[in-house]
Amino acid sequence: MSVFEGKHILLGVTGSIAAYKAADIASKLTQAGAEVDVVLTEHARHFVTEVTFRAITRRPVLTDLFDEPEERQIAHIHLAKRADVLLVAPATANILAKLAAGIADDLLTTLALATHARLVIAPAMNTVMWEHPATQSNVRTLDARGALFVYPAEGMLACGDVGAGKLADTPTILQAVERVLNPPLKGVRVLVTAGPTEEPIDAVRHISNPSSGKMGYAIAEEAVRQGAGVTLVTGPTLLEPPAGAQTVSVRTAQEMLEACLQVYDDVDVVIATAAVSDYRPAEVWHGKRKKGDEEWTIRLVPNPDILRTLGERKGSRILVGFAAETADLLQNAQHKLCEKNLDLIVANDVSQEGSGFRTDTNRVTFLWADGTQTNLPLMSKREVAQRLLEALRERLFQR
Ligand code: C5P
Repeated sequence: MSVFEGKHILLGVTGSIAAYKAADIASKLTQAGAEVDVVLTEHARHFVTEVTFRAITRRPVLTDLFDEPEERQIAHIHLAKRADVLLVAPATANILAKLAAGIADDLLTTLALATHARLVIAPAMNTVMWEHPATQSNVRTLDARGALFVYPAEGMLACGDVGAGKLADTPTILQAVERVLNPPLKGVRVLVTAGPTEEPIDAVRHISNPSSGKMGYAIAEEAVRQGAGVTLVTGPTLLEPPAGAQTVSVRTAQEMLEACLQVYDDVDVVIATAAVSDYRPAEVWHGKRKKGDEEWTIRLVPNPDILRTLGERKGSRILVGFAAETADLLQNAQHKLCEKNLDLIVANDVSQEGSGFRTDTNRVTFLWADGTQTNLPLMSKREVAQRLLEALRERLFQR
């Protein structure tokens, strides 16, 4: 049975020349068994008519917020509640701006605010409009809020320009909708550790490191989007907790270990990106130690190795570690892989530009326990997260 069977899809069509391609999308979705309610914006109606979509979907086509086809129901709220996916294809720069700002001045934008359904957006516009900082900022806003973008392709545009802005093809758009309806990591439970830890010296001082938590948060966020149940155990960071993940905030390595052990029985995969302080002060001063001229020696004792502790009782879980190194990257990573009883280690050379702490990008190598090795080019931490989860998914399904 197709994943579209019996699913309710709201298809918002906006005023781009590519609007005629939405007829093909509506047709393919309907053929696959979905119930498709098409919403045309005012501008879309200059390009396509309701008749086409009504014939294809065999359902009323909606255009007006004040048009209430079903008696005694507020149509837009009813539609918003029933929807499994809200697909906007083609999406103009204008609709992206309205969606990002939360404007609700017509039926489509009102539906977008009134629904819990995941938003899938396939933009189509002139290259300059697509590349405009305002549009790109709206894309980032919507993306951060969980919308799935089917990015426009490059090609000859209706205006004669050549560049990015062409509506993605129908199979690619359908694939994205399918991914939302049938998330690849559904049923998989993932524990992610992220950020630094802080080891107090006294009431106002601590030992820590410059980890921003960006890599771990990107993994947690992406795993949620792919349908996994995610627990994020995080040290102190400046990042927003990812929507949809259960976030547990901790300060010290000891607290992080305890938080991980609390959920360990219930997880299938552990991804440890946290930069855990390897040592902590043996004694913590009560209150703030006063400044003085004499030397102050702080004795440090080792912290527990969280990942190694989890590795000792691994069972059938998949354990992933990160190895940030400045020299002998692969040898050191290989050593950690064995020592901590991991399935995969993600190695990155933090001395390289664009890699490691606080950056938005990373260049990593995947090193599997069976010796397989994959070198990835420099990419965003989000893309690293996607590649990592894709690789893990393959292993999970092989089991
Ligand atoms: O041994 P090293 O700290 O380099 O290993 C890095 C990997 O081990 C990372 O995945 C990190 O999150 C994890 N780790 C840990 N607990 C520690 C130290 C490291 O979980 N105390």
